[in-house]
Amino acid sequence: MAISIKITKTTQSRISECDFNNIKFGNIFSDHMFVVDYEDGEWKNAEILPFGNLSLSPSTFALHYGQAIFEGMKAFINNNGEAQLFRPLDNWKRLNLSAKRMGMAELPADIFMDGLSKLVEIDKQWIPTLPGSALYIRPFMFAADNYVGVRTALKFKFVIFTCPVNAYYPKPLRVLVEQKYVRAFNGGVGNVKAAGNYAISMLPTTEANNKGFDQIIWTDGNEHKYVEESGTMNVFFVIGKKVITPNLDGTILAGITRDSCIKLLKSEGYEVEERKVSIDEIIEAHKNGLLNDAFGTGTAAIVAKIATFNHNGIDYNLPDVNTREVSNFLYKQLNAIQTGNAEDKFDWNLPIRNAAINI
Ligand code: COI
Repeated sequence: MAISIKITKTTQSRISECDFNNIKFGNIFSDHMFVVDYEDGEWKNAEILPFGNLSLSPSTFALHYGQAIFEGMKAFINNNGEAQLFRPLDNWKRLNLSAKRMGMAELPADIFMDGLSKLVEIDKQWIPTLPGSALYIRPFMFAADNYVGVRTALKFKFVIFTCPVNAYYPKPLRVLVEQKYVRAFNGGVGNVKAAGNYAISMLPTTEANNKGFDQIIWTDGNEHKYVEESGTMNVFFVIGKKVITPNLDGTILAGITRDSCIKLLKSEGYEVEERKVSIDEIIEAHKNGLLNDAFGTGTAAIVAKIATFNHNGIDYNLPDVNTREVSNFLYKQLNAIQTGNAEDKFDWNLPIRNAAINI
């Protein structure tokens, strides 16, 4: 049975503070948030309330031991003026994969979907409609015990808030192939969306930024030989006509945008290979004039073109981004599907009216 959600709407919307013609990623938040607690083996106290601070004890478990996970997803306005979610159940599944790996409570689908759809409907006017923009949705869960000993937590808090956004990267990227630091290793948590995966990227990324790079291309932890991800994105290369991307071997996040891109490309007749991709192969393809495209994919990033990559101090420049066949196709096609301007043949969109809501 669906959990009942207490709803308290704001009496003072902040929407007039949002300049929808000039949205920066991630620093203006919609009016409401959804919060639900896990205690005594069950989810309870589900609530939608005005976006605001959470009150936490300094002993909150997640602040010490990093038991925290999150998701990133998006909502759009379709051609009928309705709010719709893009592949929400895939995010729910991945959230629970992350929860399982991190020893956290799994969240039932009905609580996720009901909280999410009610929240998005209540803040529907926050969904931007300019090309490339969307309502970014941030579901997250953290261990909420007030306890300083180390053991799996017993209490969790799950929260969803939203924010109007544009694409995360405003321009084509200059990326550094990382040779020193490692993002993930076999048996670790690289394949789930654990907050700590992002924490460990901060220093390497800052060092790369200080050298003039926008992001890192992570390589494997054994030899720094195989490409894994780029920054917060999955990564694709186009060699000749073939599209290649690292396979999901346990150290790479199963991106939902990654999966959407692979399905779209295959349905258009492209050959797509998911396999180990060595940096030597990419450099060799570049030398032979065959490296036609390289890009990252992610919910926030959408499809972000790589202009240049640097390996061992050498810059490798890729073709002009405007001439790129694959990344331009994917960017346009994804957006067209998400906004209802192209056929949704994979049934990825979920209009809010089809989610159980009763506001
Ligand atoms: C995503 O939602 O795509 C992320 O990984 C989060 C971050 C880049 C804002």
